[in-house]
Amino acid sequence: MVYNYSERMSKMNGAATREILKLLTRPEIISFAGGFPATQCLPQKEVQEIAHELLSEGRATDSLQYGTTEGFVPFRQQLIEYVKTAGIENISLDQTLVISGGQQGIDLMSKTFLDKGDVVFVENPTYLTALQIFDSYQAKIVGINADKNGLDIEDLENKIIQYKPKFLYCVSTFSNPTGKTYTVANRKEIASVTAKYNVMVLEDDPYSKLRFEGESVPSIKSFDTHGNVVYISSFSKVLSPGLRVGVAVGDKEVIRKMTICKQGVDVTTSNLSQLIVYEYLKRGYLFPNIAKSLPIYRERKNAMIDAINKYMPEEFKYINAEGGLFIWGEFDAPINTVELAPEAIKHDVAYIQGQVFYPDGGGLNTLRLNFSNATVDRIDAGIHRLGDMFKEEIAKLK
Ligand SMILES: Cc1ncc(COP(=O)(O)O)c(C=O)c1O
Repeated sequence: MVYNYSERMSKMNGAATREILKLLTRPEIISFAGGFPATQCLPQKEVQEIAHELLSEGRATDSLQYGTTEGFVPFRQQLIEYVKTAGIENISLDQTLVISGGQQGIDLMSKTFLDKGDVVFVENPTYLTALQIFDSYQAKIVGINADKNGLDIEDLENKIIQYKPKFLYCVSTFSNPTGKTYTVANRKEIASVTAKYNVMVLEDDPYSKLRFEGESVPSIKSFDTHGNVVYISSFSKVLSPGLRVGVAVGDKEVIRKMTICKQGVDVTTSNLSQLIVYEYLKRGYLFPNIAKSLPIYRERKNAMIDAINKYMPEEFKYINAEGGLFIWGEFDAPINTVELAPEAIKHDVAYIQGQVFYPDGGGLNTLRLNFSNATVDRIDAGIHRLGDMFKEEIAKLK
C-alpha cells in the first residue's frame, strides 16, 4: 500500500528524540532526557481517595458522563482563583477554558490562529513539541534572540515589523529547555511591544509553581491591558501528567474560538480528571504537595550542579535554574552533542541534544539535562560518565 499522506506530514518526523526515549525503559540507563515529575511527588493516595468517592454509588454519573467543552463550571470558577497566583486578576468565567494539558492549549491556539505559511515567533531555543505543533499547521517558525533577562526586545520589535507574526509563543518561567525566567521588566516590555503591533502572545506556564529558589514573578498575562495574551497552565508537573488537565485564560472572543476548535479535538477534557483536580484543589491538597515536592527537586538540582562542577569539562557553561525541571548547557568548544547522544547511551546515560529545541537547527554544542527523575546517587554517577565522555572529546580537539 502506498499511503498518500497530507502535505503537513512531510515536516513531521518526530524522530529526533524518539530513539533515545525508547531506550529509557532499560533500567540501567540513567536518564536526564525526559521531563517527568518525580514519581514520589505523584499524590497516589489523595487521588485514590478522591476517585473512590467520585465513583461511589449515586455520584458516578457526574464523572463518567460527557461534560461541556468549556469545562466543569465550579472547576472553572476555582481556576479563576488559581490563576491569581500568577498575578492574573479580573478574569470572568467566559475567559476560561479547561484543556487536556498544556500541550492541547498550544494546539488549540495554533488551530485558532494559524494558516499555512503564517509566522509564529518562538524564543530561540524553545519547547520541542511546540515546534512540532507549529510545523503541523505548516507555519513558518522564526526564532527570537534571548539572553539571561528574557527576550531581546529590539530583535522582537524588528522582527514583528519584518514578519508580521500571528503570535509569539514563550515559556516565560523556568523555560523548557533552558530553565531560564524572564525578568519582570522584560515581561512588561513583551506585553507592551506585542500590544503596540496587535500581535498575540501564547504564554505557556507549566513550571512556575516549581520554584525552589528566588522570588516569584507575575506572568506576562498579568501585564496584558490589550487582550492579546493567552495564558496556559497545566497540572501535569504539580499534580499528575496522567490526569491531562490544564487551563487556558484569555480574551473571551479568543477563548470562544479555541472552545469551538476543542469540540472537534476531544469534545471535553475528561470529566473524571477535571473532578479529581477540582476536589484536589478544594480539599487544599495542591500547595502542601508542591511544598513537599520542592525540597526533592532542590536537592536533585543541587546534586546535578555539584556533579557538573566536579566532572564536566570547564568548557561546559550552564544556566543554574531557580526552579522547573531542567539544566541547560552549552560547550565553549566545537562539541557536537547530536553525534555524542548515542555515544552517551553506550555509557548508559541519556541527555537531549539541544539542537532539537532550535527552529533553525542551531545549537549543535548545547544540551538539556533533566534532574527531577533520578536519585542523587544516580545523578552523580550519570554526570560523572557524561563528564568523562565530554572531556575525552575535548582532549581530541587539542
Ligand atoms: C513548556 C511545556 N509546555 C507544555 C508541556 C505539555 O505538558 P502537558 O500537556 O502535560 O500539560 C510541557 C511538557 O513537558 C512543557 O515542557
